[in-house]
Amino acid sequence: MTINDFDVLVANESHVKYAEEICAEMASSARARGTGIARRSPEYVAMKMREGKAVIALKKEDGSWAGFSYIETWGHGLYVVNSGLIINPEYRRIGLARAIKTKTFFLSLKKFPGAKLFGLTTGLPVMKINSDLGYRPVIYSELTDDDNFWKGCESCVNYPILQSKDRKNCLCTAMLFDPAVDKEKVQKPDDPDLQ
Ligand SMILES: CC(C)(COP(=O)(O)OP(=O)(O)OC[C@H]1O[C@@H](n2cnc3c(N)ncnc32)[C@H](O)[C@@H]1OP(=O)(O)O)[C@@H](O)C(=O)NCCC(=O)NCCS
Repeated sequence: MTINDFDVLVANESHVKYAEEICAEMASSARARGTGIARRSPEYVAMKMREGKAVIALKKEDGSWAGFSYIETWGHGLYVVNSGLIINPEYRRIGLARAIKTKTFFLSLKKFPGAKLFGLTTGLPVMKINSDLGYRPVIYSELTDDDNFWKGCESCVNYPILQSKDRKNCLCTAMLFDPAVDKEKVQKPDDPDLQ
């Protein structure tokens, strides 16, 4: 199976039926990794789909769900996070995370021009993909100070560490893409959804 066996789409109402399955996989993958993750509900994922703030990958052959990610905004829209990346375990290591993250990244730049994009991750694949997209590792004070963003960390197993460090650092690596500084590094793909 290759990346060409999948459609990578901006999600919409027609994909809401996958929300439950996606959340269940997010939770079980987090348990399997034994690492922390902010918990998401199917209702929240469905809302992201309806708002056009999510990207989904579907297997062309049977329309089954293969991968997902969504966009969140913080600090009154000055900061954007591409979050909740999950690939169906059956379809890992064929480039789906890279394809979904790339599309989510350019969708974010299109929807929120000028906003800074950032992410928090412990995962090597995400670090690799983010650096290839132009993100740079930064310290937490470069990120949003929006309390609602940091509230998302409360459901993470590592939250006591974040608290004990006064929100200055934790186990996740922070990565930032500031269009004002980093835009030269990227070239928009030829994708009708992103024009
Ligand atoms: C992490 C995850 C999203 C990767 O998805 P994927 O579709 O298998 O990733 P890709 O095939 O696009 O690979 C992207 C890059 O990461 C590398 N990679 C993927 N999985 C890896 C692993 N388990 N260990 C090391 N490198 C890995 C790939 O080799 C590739 O690098 P390259 O392009 O330089 O060769 C997927 O395993 C997953 O859903 N895991 C559970 C949830 C999770 O960890 N989400 C991220 C939260 S921050």
